[in-house]
Amino acid sequence: MKNIVLIGFMGVGKGTLARAIAKRSDIYAVDTDDLIESLTNKKIKKIFAQKGEKYFRQLEQRTADWLAQNVQNSVISTGGGFYKVKNLKDIGTIVYLKADFDWIYDRITKSKNAKKKIKKRPLFKSYKAAKKLYEERAPQYEAVADLIIDVQDKSTKELVEEVLAKTLQSSS
Ligand code: S3P
Repeated sequence: MKNIVLIGFMGVGKGTLARAIAKRSDIYAVDTDDLIESLTNKKIKKIFAQKGEKYFRQLEQRTADWLAQNVQNSVISTGGGFYKVKNLKDIGTIVYLKADFDWIYDRITKSKNAKKKIKKRPLFKSYKAAKKLYEERAPQYEAVADLIIDVQDKSTKELVEEVLAKTLQSSS
């Protein structure tokens, strides 16, 4: 099986969906932010604060190279800016999880761990700043995607089935 690579904006639910797909298909879920944290033994927030965004993007590229070389048969959730790596398509089938900005904003800010979720995301500073970033990125996510899945108001269970059905179709 080709890897399934979930891309999309912060807070859209990439990690949750990756783990649900893994469970349903008996495969591993891998997360690029987790890989970066284990490589550096630092939290993402700390990497941004100490070394800056540019350095973090270099770590994302290194992670992409490693994934393309070493990981198969897995579902990979990515940080919201990971889609910019040079060799994205070499990693697997790219699935963009799409939702409106206000839906994503509510999903983060109205969740029970809202404070923690905002704190760990250095680029999710204010409504205005996050919306600007979303608007810049939305067309770029669409452009690199093999598949676009509208996630808004669907259950995780429904999304698991939709992703699996569509990725099987696109790789056959
Ligand atoms: C980022 C998204 C974050 C994390 C980092 C940068 C981005 O991941 O990689 O804070 O550029 O959108 P999530 O999409 O899991 O929040």
